[in-house]
Amino acid sequence: MSSDTSTEGMDGTRRGFFATMALAFFGSVSALGFAYPLGMYLWPRERKVKGAGERSMKIPLSDVPIGEARFVRFLGKPAVVVRPNEQQVIALSPICPHLGCIVKWREKEKEFLCPCHGGRFDSKGIVLGGPPPFPLPPFSSSVEAEYIVIKEV
Ligand code: FES
Repeated sequence: MSSDTSTEGMDGTRRGFFATMALAFFGSVSALGFAYPLGMYLWPRERKVKGAGERSMKIPLSDVPIGEARFVRFLGKPAVVVRPNEQQVIALSPICPHLGCIVKWREKEKEFLCPCHGGRFDSKGIVLGGPPPFPLPPFSSSVEAEYIVIKEV
């Protein structure tokens, strides 16, 4: 009889220990789940600084033939560079302002087409037709020596 009582006591102690450990574990996970987004909000990894340290990207001019478009990643997001002619370079966000699909370049028509709902944009990102309410957002772009330089607007 006394051995049963000591076993129950040990089970109770063990159960208590595991309950405490489980509570500590889930409490830590919950605290981390709250602290991480708060930390990212208060101390973001990338900071936008005007002027020095401007965030830009260089693409060799030869990578974008005249009349074609090149899709790249800029600042972790998609971007597209178009050369409608020898002098002009245009950099845009290819994210459709309607519902966020990525537009495709139609080389023959020299326009962008959104595959989701048929939104159409010219090479400058201006809406030609379909449901998009706004043009494709532009990036600043220029030609420096043999490179196309894209910058945040
Ligand atoms: S998402 Fe592009 S037209 Fe709807």
